[in-house]
Amino acid sequence: MLAGEYGEVMERNFRLLVRLGEIYGADRMIPVESVQVAGVSYKSIGDPGLEFLEDLANKGAKVMVPTTLNPPGMDLVDWRELGFPEDFAKKQLQIMDAFKRMGIMMTATCTPYLVGKLPCFGEHIAWSESSAVSFANSVIGARTNREGGPSALAAALCGVTPNYGMHLDENRKPSFLVNVNVELKSNADFGALGYHVGKIVKDKIPYFKGIKDADVDKLKSLGAAMAASGAVALYHVENLTPEASLVDTSGLETVEFGERELRGAYETLNTGKDPDIIILGCPHASLKEIATLACKLEGKRLKKPLWICTSRVTKEAATRMGFTGLIEKAGGKVVADTCTVVSPIERMGYKTTGVDSGKAANYLPGFCKQQVVFKSIDDLLEGRVA
Ligand code: F3S
Repeated sequence: MLAGEYGEVMERNFRLLVRLGEIYGADRMIPVESVQVAGVSYKSIGDPGLEFLEDLANKGAKVMVPTTLNPPGMDLVDWRELGFPEDFAKKQLQIMDAFKRMGIMMTATCTPYLVGKLPCFGEHIAWSESSAVSFANSVIGARTNREGGPSALAAALCGVTPNYGMHLDENRKPSFLVNVNVELKSNADFGALGYHVGKIVKDKIPYFKGIKDADVDKLKSLGAAMAASGAVALYHVENLTPEASLVDTSGLETVEFGERELRGAYETLNTGKDPDIIILGCPHASLKEIATLACKLEGKRLKKPLWICTSRVTKEAATRMGFTGLIEKAGGKVVADTCTVVSPIERMGYKTTGVDSGKAANYLPGFCKQQVVFKSIDDLLEGRVA
């Protein structure tokens, strides 16, 4: 590939991977079983990104391994009804077309482990969405660095990635022990924990003690917030995540997380008071989360707009089961493909957004010029349903 035998596109992309490997001291290339590509929203990549992708697609670039796609900046079907701007939609659809022509799965979700491609323990992959990277490394025990958009695409086209960072045993050991001394009840509580710990450990690996009964939804919330506040790509939870029993925790610096720290995280992330809209589903909601929300809203009427963001496949299942109908009857919307942060909500008249996600609460002020109300779903809905 590097010698140009497979054409200019492959040569250019392989060269990028070689350069990356040289920078990080990789000893060789390793095959990857799957790739997840971020940098999909027109809001994030703009015209230069669109031109780059169209150029690749026009030159016949095709992925060599199963490759999934992060959320674009709008619901790809109901964008008009939801009020997404026409000019934005046109560019977004061109981006999706370029990805499709390269053979990438149109999953459009940041939870490819729920929809698209579930890796195995120990499998080498090249994913780029930070919350998905955290989930794959931590909850599944697969191995991936946090790829940038171009390096993930290069791995998808060449089928390999340089062997460094999270792919190596020695880099998967914890540096901090986090003692959780407070009961965490909601996804938002896990987001608050992730936000607080990410700020402290910064790019290192925490080992949590004291977390009980965290399900997939709570762990995705924890990992997403930690990836956003501290670029944490891997965490371990005692008695819960697969590599926790394989690592040594003796002599680690200890961080305490109790009632005071939990309250402090909420105080920092809350910058607004009265949300114009509530947006849930960051990371993308699972079917269980949609079902829970539908039950909460059954027979009620929302006083303000509410979206719950998810993948198209999950929305389809939720619709078949009647959950979408229940949410819509209450005045809410199940929004597929896109998410709070990568959609242009600031152009749609919203100024204050209510979320239950530590990651969204962290990013919304900068990315979407929003004031944020960060609470559990129950607290967000309180007084907003009749
Ligand atoms: Fe996913 Fe968007 Fe949140 S990509 S993790 S829903 S910011």
